[in-house]
Amino acid sequence: MCKHRNGEWLVDQLEENQLTSYRAWLQYQAIKVQSYKQATTRYLSIVTVTKRDEVIDRGLDELDVALDAMFGYQPAVHLADHNETGLALLCDSSYQEEAYTIESTEQRISITGGSSRAILYGIFHLLRLIQQQEPVSQLSIKEKPKNSIRMINHWDDMDGSVERGYAGPSFFYKDYQFIKDRQRIHDYARLLSSIGINALTINNVNVHQIESKLITDMYLADVKQTSDIFNQYGITVYLSINYAAPIEIGGLDSADPLETKVIAFWKETVKHVYQKVPKLGGFLVKADSENRPGPFTYGRNHAEGANMLADAIAPYGGKVIWRCFVYNCKQDWRDRRTDRARAAYDHFMPLDGQFKDNVVLQVKNGPMDFQVREPVSPLIGGLQHTNQFLEFQIAQEYLGQQRHLVYLIPQWKEVLAFDTYAKGAGTKVQDIVSGDVFQNKIAGIAAVSNVGKDYNWTGHTMAQLNLYGYGRLVWNPNLTAEEIALEWIKQTFGCHPEYEKMMEMIMPSWETYENYTSPLGIGWMVNVNHHYGPNVDGYEYMAWGTYHFADREGLGVDRTIKTGTGYTGQYHPENRELYESLETCPDELVLFFHHVPYTHKLKSGKTVIQHIYDSHFKGVMQVEAMIETWERLQDFVDQQRYHDVKARLDHQLASAKEWRDIINTYFYRKSGIEDQQGRIIY
Ligand code: GCU
Repeated sequence: MCKHRNGEWLVDQLEENQLTSYRAWLQYQAIKVQSYKQATTRYLSIVTVTKRDEVIDRGLDELDVALDAMFGYQPAVHLADHNETGLALLCDSSYQEEAYTIESTEQRISITGGSSRAILYGIFHLLRLIQQQEPVSQLSIKEKPKNSIRMINHWDDMDGSVERGYAGPSFFYKDYQFIKDRQRIHDYARLLSSIGINALTINNVNVHQIESKLITDMYLADVKQTSDIFNQYGITVYLSINYAAPIEIGGLDSADPLETKVIAFWKETVKHVYQKVPKLGGFLVKADSENRPGPFTYGRNHAEGANMLADAIAPYGGKVIWRCFVYNCKQDWRDRRTDRARAAYDHFMPLDGQFKDNVVLQVKNGPMDFQVREPVSPLIGGLQHTNQFLEFQIAQEYLGQQRHLVYLIPQWKEVLAFDTYAKGAGTKVQDIVSGDVFQNKIAGIAAVSNVGKDYNWTGHTMAQLNLYGYGRLVWNPNLTAEEIALEWIKQTFGCHPEYEKMMEMIMPSWETYENYTSPLGIGWMVNVNHHYGPNVDGYEYMAWGTYHFADREGLGVDRTIKTGTGYTGQYHPENRELYESLETCPDELVLFFHHVPYTHKLKSGKTVIQHIYDSHFKGVMQVEAMIETWERLQDFVDQQRYHDVKARLDHQLASAKEWRDIINTYFYRKSGIEDQQGRIIY
């Protein structure tokens, strides 16, 4: 029998009242309901394990800490093959690697998993149920993840900043060094593992000069130590690399993927990296994108670029994750034929089937860039012979930067449920990215992280829900947004029914944000560079390919085949026709696909201009309602979290009003059309 206290939170640097925020959804509040306590603890005084290793030990730590906090005791642990009573942790090689079951009998609960990691997931599952005070006496749970790779991408830089980070500085790096106190990383690994995340990149996709050296001896020992921590929680670490590393760190004059010396550089480098970090998952690459180097410089295509790296890393079982966020960021705004939305498909579709088995293409959910509303990228369902990951952004870059409450799961669920028609009706995105439809060797979902060194991890306490929800959703895309939010509320705040009122704030929050920001799928209209707050023409005359084309008659981008950029032609016929025709194009995307007059009648019966006015007034009222709901919870929520959220909601309201008035005024002045309801427009 052996006791660890590894599962304890970092407490030194936090004040007591901040610790509650820091614990996020692993609160393990003391359970005072006597009947529940008895019915549950009778199973949990003895834990039997058939084997011990570092991953199972982390699960035992978690049980220790959780049961101590919830019930006031730590279980006894026995190493044995069999036990009729208590909690049994069993490994069964006939299970899929990450699959587990949880079964209760009269005397015993058994968690059986296909690997130590699966058992760890089973433990977190059981603790999730207990935190919600769900009965455990009749469990018959079978779980396996829908997606085999469930990844988080950090955009952390080694100077300690986080690109598009809204929750304080990085907790990996400071002043171009790894932070030596790694307790915070340990706590983070627990949180991630509790929601089933199994892969992570630890540095920004934009790999600058210093970060290019992460694959050298300057940093590899640190990478190894970081990787070790995550490995204990079943999480594999990956690195983002600089495609020009042969030049930047290898002293070569070229990074041409077909040149012998470049190939030799990568072979040597990768060999060395794996000697130092044997469990590294592989590389993530942003190449030929937003001024990053890539194979285009040498007249090579992306398959040639990626395959060279893939060959170098294959002997170690490594993967090359290659991003498809490739477009011309030096476009002439006067040129209306070039369409950024087309770019990823135009670049990568011709290469379908040419990538090596250990290459994965990572595709953003929409063709533009994580806007409040975009259609699904036509590459998903387009690519049929290539491994692919879907990429989401948990960081709310264009969605209020974690100062606004926006629940992202409803948006992601729409993406995952979208019918691509790639193999006839019912070919949903979620079945493609999981690898089921095209039998891909590597498949899954990645998302840009929303955490930083803030004591509540995510800046906005409510933004913890997006991280939590991401993990739960990619494990099981069939969970509803309501289920996810509710289980998060119970674990994060408590099981009192009063907390469930938060659902009224959470559930409509994406729609609310859409209402007061850019309308009907057109996107952008934000301030340049930092992307916060309204600026209708911010990007209108810039090189980024992000336009709304508003004039005095109307607005929107004509992306039809007939008269526009032809983007609709990238979809399978059913969706192509749906979007091509103004009659059938869904209202919420009408300005993404069509340039229409302000007087165009939507399916809702409103004109475009009246929709703009109405939705913007409504959005502000919805934020006011959120605040009222939150204020009613004041006596139930601890003061720290209450005031943190309250302050952000107050800011959100001010910001929503700014959005409302700027958007409404802009379009009123452009169109000269009055609001039918005569409300104040400036
Ligand atoms: C967006 C974002 C950048 C990021 C890029 C990417 O454009 O604003 O900060 O680097 O996406 O995904 O590579």
